[in-house]
Amino acid sequence: MKILITAGPTREHLDPIRFISNRSTGKMGFAVAQAAAERGHTVTLIAGPVSLATPPGVTRVDVTSACEMLEAVQRALPKQDALVMSAAVADWRPIQKTATKLKKRDMEPVIHLVPNPDILKTILPEKENRLFVGFAAETGDPTAEAQRKLTAKGLDMIVANDVTAEGAGFAVDTNRVTFFTVNGQPQVLPLQSKLDVGRAIIAWLEGQ
Ligand code: C5P
Repeated sequence: MKILITAGPTREHLDPIRFISNRSTGKMGFAVAQAAAERGHTVTLIAGPVSLATPPGVTRVDVTSACEMLEAVQRALPKQDALVMSAAVADWRPIQKTATKLKKRDMEPVIHLVPNPDILKTILPEKENRLFVGFAAETGDPTAEAQRKLTAKGLDMIVANDVTAEGAGFAVDTNRVTFFTVNGQPQVLPLQSKLDVGRAIIAWLEGQ
């Protein structure tokens, strides 16, 4: 299969120095990319700003902001059989990015934001028979939010986790996730390495 994977955070700049972002390190998405490449799939990895090495055999495209990630996904999508959207896309961006550093004395103590595009919702009309997998990182039981996002974003599967649970979430090498699909029962996976979670996602894609 040809599999497109997004990973990491996005950065939404106010000026060349300052930005809004989140705690994503990209580990989960890079693990999915590694798992897919290990199985011989053709993998394109669109990465936000992370400090991780590209897994062997993976084609990597680096982006910074959500708008750049959307463009990169739109460019790559036509050739793909599946998309795994594991990036933690920032929901908002500053209304404008200045070309030069803002001076403290010229700044208001308020940042005006505009919503970023939802990448999955934007590309849904181009889905055709491609498989789309999303992620839902929640604080607390993710079931309700995962099921809502599965439908709202037109996904075939959503990988949900409680980022506050032991061994799950940001900057750790393990994860504890549940797969929610449109028809089947939720599949609760044990605490395991992110690479093994990645392998389980790829095995699910191969089974469709
Ligand atoms: O942020 P949220 O919990 O809604 O993310 C759920 C899924 O939607 C994830 O797969 C994420 O990559 C994707 N997403 C997106 N565009 C956004 C925000 C999230 O595609 N602007």
